Amino acid sequence: MKPIKINHVAIVVKDIDAALDFWQQAFGLRLDHVEEVPSQKSKVAFLPLGESEIELVQPTTTDSGLASFLEKRGEGMHHVCIEVEDIDAALAELKSKGVRLINEVPEELPGRKMAFIHPKAANGVLVELYQLTGRA
Ligand code: CO
Repeated sequence: MKPIKINHVAIVVKDIDAALDFWQQAFGLRLDHVEEVPSQKSKVAFLPLGESEIELVQPTTTDSGLASFLEKRGEGMHHVCIEVEDIDAALAELKSKGVRLINEVPEELPGRKMAFIHPKAANGVLVELYQLTGRA
C-alpha cells in the first residue's frame, strides 16, 4: 500500500451554513464547493487547507449512519481520509491483514473512489480511503 497523504478530515455538522461561517471566518478558509452525495445521504462542503481539506458533512436525511452518529454523539470529528495510489490494492492488502472493512468494494464518485475501514479496526477512528481518479 502506498499512503500518499491525509486527503481530508471530515467534521459532521447540523447546519452546514453556520459551520461554514465559523471555518471561513475563524481561519480564513476558502469554500471550494458544496456537493450533494446522495449515496451517503449527505451534503459536503470542501475547504482546501494546504495539501489537505477540511470537509463539513451534514446529513440530508434522518435514516443514515451519519445522521445517527450526529444524533448520538453530536457535532464533531467524523472521519479521517487517507489518500492511496491504488484503492483496490489497498483494500486487498488490508483484508489480507485481517483488517475489518465497511466497504470491501470501493464506491465510485466523481473524481475519486472511496471506501471505509471499520472504526473498531482503527482505534475507534472511522478511516476513509481515497483514490483520486481525475477531475469530474
Ligand atoms: Co470523507
